[in-house]
Amino acid sequence: MKPFDIVIVGGGGAGLYAAMEAMKTNPALNIAVLSKVYPNRSHTSAAQGGANAALANKAKDDTVELHIFDTIKGSDYLADQDAVEILCSEAPKIIRELDNIGTPWSRLDDNTIAQRPFGGAGRPRCCYCADKTGHTILQTLYEQCLKKGVFFFNEYFALQLSVHDSRMKGLIAMNMKTGKVEAFPARTVLFATGGYAKMYWNRSSNAAGNTGDGQAIAYRAGIPLKDMEFVQFHPTGLRKSGLLVTEGARGEGGYLINSLGERFMSRYAPEKMELGPRDLVSRSIETEILQERGFDSPAGKYVHLDLTHLGADLIKTRLPQIREMSMYFEGVDPIEEPIPVRPTAHYSMGGIDTDIDGRTVMDGVYAAGECACVSVHGANRLGGNSLLDILVFGRIVGHAAAEEAKKFEPAPITPEEIKDAENQLRSYMQPSGHFERYGTLREELGQTLALNVGIYREASKIRKGVSELHGLQERFKHVRVFDTSDVFNTNLMQVLELKNMLDLSETVAAGALAREESRGSHTRTDFPQRDDEKWHKHTLATLEGDRVKLAEKPVTMGRYELQERTY
Ligand code: FUM
Repeated sequence: MKPFDIVIVGGGGAGLYAAMEAMKTNPALNIAVLSKVYPNRSHTSAAQGGANAALANKAKDDTVELHIFDTIKGSDYLADQDAVEILCSEAPKIIRELDNIGTPWSRLDDNTIAQRPFGGAGRPRCCYCADKTGHTILQTLYEQCLKKGVFFFNEYFALQLSVHDSRMKGLIAMNMKTGKVEAFPARTVLFATGGYAKMYWNRSSNAAGNTGDGQAIAYRAGIPLKDMEFVQFHPTGLRKSGLLVTEGARGEGGYLINSLGERFMSRYAPEKMELGPRDLVSRSIETEILQERGFDSPAGKYVHLDLTHLGADLIKTRLPQIREMSMYFEGVDPIEEPIPVRPTAHYSMGGIDTDIDGRTVMDGVYAAGECACVSVHGANRLGGNSLLDILVFGRIVGHAAAEEAKKFEPAPITPEEIKDAENQLRSYMQPSGHFERYGTLREELGQTLALNVGIYREASKIRKGVSELHGLQERFKHVRVFDTSDVFNTNLMQVLELKNMLDLSETVAAGALAREESRGSHTRTDFPQRDDEKWHKHTLATLEGDRVKLAEKPVTMGRYELQERTY
C-alpha cells in the first residue's frame, strides 16, 4: 500500500482544520482522517460557548495584547508565552476565515460577529453561534474536507504507532465494522484525538469517547506527556449527568446562588463575580457545598444557576440548547426555575508534549488540539480558548505536517506487526478462571479520581488514589471481552479505551502528587500557595517499564513577569 502523506487520528476540529490546511498547502496530498466516530459526532460538537478573538466588535477597546495577558494570567503563568502570542494574534484572522467558509456566527445589530463576556476575560471577546458553536464549526470544516478530497476512515479505532529505529512509519488501527486490524503506512501521523477527562467518568462533561486514545498511544511509544496533572473542572455541569451548561449562561448574566439565597461569588471574586476564571469558580462552588451551603438531593449536592431574570426571549435565542438539556436531564425549565449544577471534569490542559509547530520528540509524529500540550493553557484554560486552540494550532500543525511529508519515505509496516496487534486483541477474549468486568473498573476509576485527585487534592488522598489506580491496573489484566464477534465489537473497544484511561490516570495522579504547590486547576490543600521558586515548570511524564517517570521542562517566558493572580 502506498503511504499516506498524513494520517490524522481524530475527526474533531483540530484534525479537520489540519486536514483542510494541509490540502490547501498542496492539493495533491494524500490525507487520511481516521475517527472512531463519524467526524460530525466528534466532541467538538459539544462545545457550546464560543471562541475568543479580540475583534473589538462588542468592546471597541479590546486588543490582542489584552487577550494575551488574560490568557497568561488565566494559566497561572504556566503557559508558554510564545505559544500564547500565536494563539491570540491568529485569533481574529481565523474567526473571519471561518466566517468566509460558512460558519454561521451570531451577529450584533450592526451585522458584525457577536461577542459575549466569558470567564477570566477583561473584555467581551467570545464569538459564538448561539450555544452550539462547536457543532457549527465542525459541520463547516467537514464540508470543506469533503470538498477538498480528504479520505475519511470512519469507525476505525487507533491501536498503536508503527515505529522502526525510533522513526514512525505509520499507524495500526482496527476497522470496527469488520474487526480487522489494518496498516496505515504514513509519512507523518498527527494525533488530534481530544482530551482525557472522561476518566472521571460520570463526573465529567466529556463525550464517552474522550478517553485519551492519542495520548496513550504516544505515551506507550515513548513520547512524553506534559502537565497531565492539570485537569479543568468546569463550574457548571448538570447535577445528575455532569453535562455542560455553558459559561455563556453566566456570560449572558446568570447568577450562582447557594441555599441561603446568596450570590456567593461575592466572597471569592468580588470584581468578576460569576465571570471569574473556571478554576476559581469551581473551587468556590465546591467550598460552598463542603461548608453545607449547597443543596442536597439523592443525585448529589449542588448549587443553583439562576437564569430566570434573563427572560424567555434571551434564553430561547441565545441559550436554546441549555434550556433543552435542563428540561431533558434535570426536569427544570430555566425560564421558570434555576438549574441544579456542580463542577464537572471538562478539559485536559495536559497532553502530548509538542513544540509550537505541533512536533513531538519522535520524527514524523505531531499533535494538535486538546490532545496536545503546546502549552497555551498552562495550569488553567480560559473558556473560549479551546475552540480557538484547535483552530489556530490545527492550521499550524496541518501546514507543518504537509511540509514534512515531502521529505520522508517510510519503511513498510510488516505483517508481523499486524499479527502482534491481532494477537493482543484476541488475548482479551481468552477464557480465564477469574475475570473482571470492564464496567466495574471504569466506575471505580472515575470514583477514585474524583475523590482523591479532584478539585481539592492532598498528599494522603493522592497516595490512596495512586495505590487504588495500581490495584485497578492489576485487575485490568483479568478483564475479559465476552463478545467474540468481529462486527462492531463495542465491548472490545470499551476495554481498549479503559486501558488508555488507566495508563493516563497514573500520569495525572503522579503529577498531582509530585507538584507540591497550588496553581490554576491543581489545588493542594497541604500546599495552598503557588511556589514559583520550586514549581514554575512543566511536568513531563514518560513510561519506563510499566510505570510513569516524571521529569521537568522550563516554561517559556516573554514580556509578562510572574505576578500574583487576583480577580
Ligand atoms: O462553557 C463553555 O461553553 C465551554 C467553553 C469552553 O470550554 O471553552
